Amino acid sequence: MSGALPCAELCPLGRSAGRDERFASPPGYLRRLAAVDGEVDETKRNMLKLAAVAGVLGIGVGGAVGGALQYVRPPVVGIGSYPRTQLFDTDGSALTVNRVAGLATTSPPYQGRYNVTTTDDIVFDYPLTNEPNFFLNLYPANGAPPSSSNPGAANVPGGIGPNGSIVAYSAICQHLGCVVPSISYYPPGTCPKTFNGRPFYIHCSCHGSTYDAANAASNLTGPAVLPLPQVVLDVDENGNIFAIGSVGPPVNGHLNTLQGGYSVGLSSQLVKDTPTISCSFPS
Ligand code: FES
Repeated sequence: MSGALPCAELCPLGRSAGRDERFASPPGYLRRLAAVDGEVDETKRNMLKLAAVAGVLGIGVGGAVGGALQYVRPPVVGIGSYPRTQLFDTDGSALTVNRVAGLATTSPPYQGRYNVTTTDDIVFDYPLTNEPNFFLNLYPANGAPPSSSNPGAANVPGGIGPNGSIVAYSAICQHLGCVVPSISYYPPGTCPKTFNGRPFYIHCSCHGSTYDAANAASNLTGPAVLPLPQVVLDVDENGNIFAIGSVGPPVNGHLNTLQGGYSVGLSSQLVKDTPTISCSFPS
């Protein structure tokens, strides 16, 4: 094999003879550069102009700069409180506890669509449009009470529905913020690994964090140390399901769960996603 190719032609930021010194730093480095003769520092010049104008107008430079910065700094977007948001199924019809629990008698039948064995990630945004959440019914697929030989869960923290098995958790990992489907729900049998005798959980394929789907999304493996935020669900007199709040830590990447995006408003529709599966767990 021949020798290394010449960096002068191939390295856009490489140091090489004949290249402009201002472009000689590797990516990611900041350097202070002396002004080249004849060039003008536009930032300094604009600040001096601003100070001069402030002097003429008889106002403080600090006030003038502060006022100017109002137009430079991007506004913080968010909402003041949690909306009461009705959830709609993937087909656009109202999501009810009977439908999710497989008790709906409407056509087409919904038996088996939502239960602990689901192999899809079913998610909805709440309370902001950039905050996806898992929607889960952890009850066994056969409708019989959960046991060691019949995987599933009932009466879980925050669970709604006839078996207390319907829950929703943030689908943004609490470690470095990998988003569904990198973080996914793993139904029984997906991986040989079990936790506390339970073969189903939420797992992040980015670095291996695992969360207990039947216990408020608490941590089962790191590197994440916080649980996933849990969406508070509510049911009206007709069985319609609503998202009305969030408990636990803020959604990862947000100063708080209500800031950093735009409201979903009064309705949010479930969508299906295909999980990314990795059976690699930290030892
Ligand atoms: S982002 Fe999920 S484990 Fe690192």
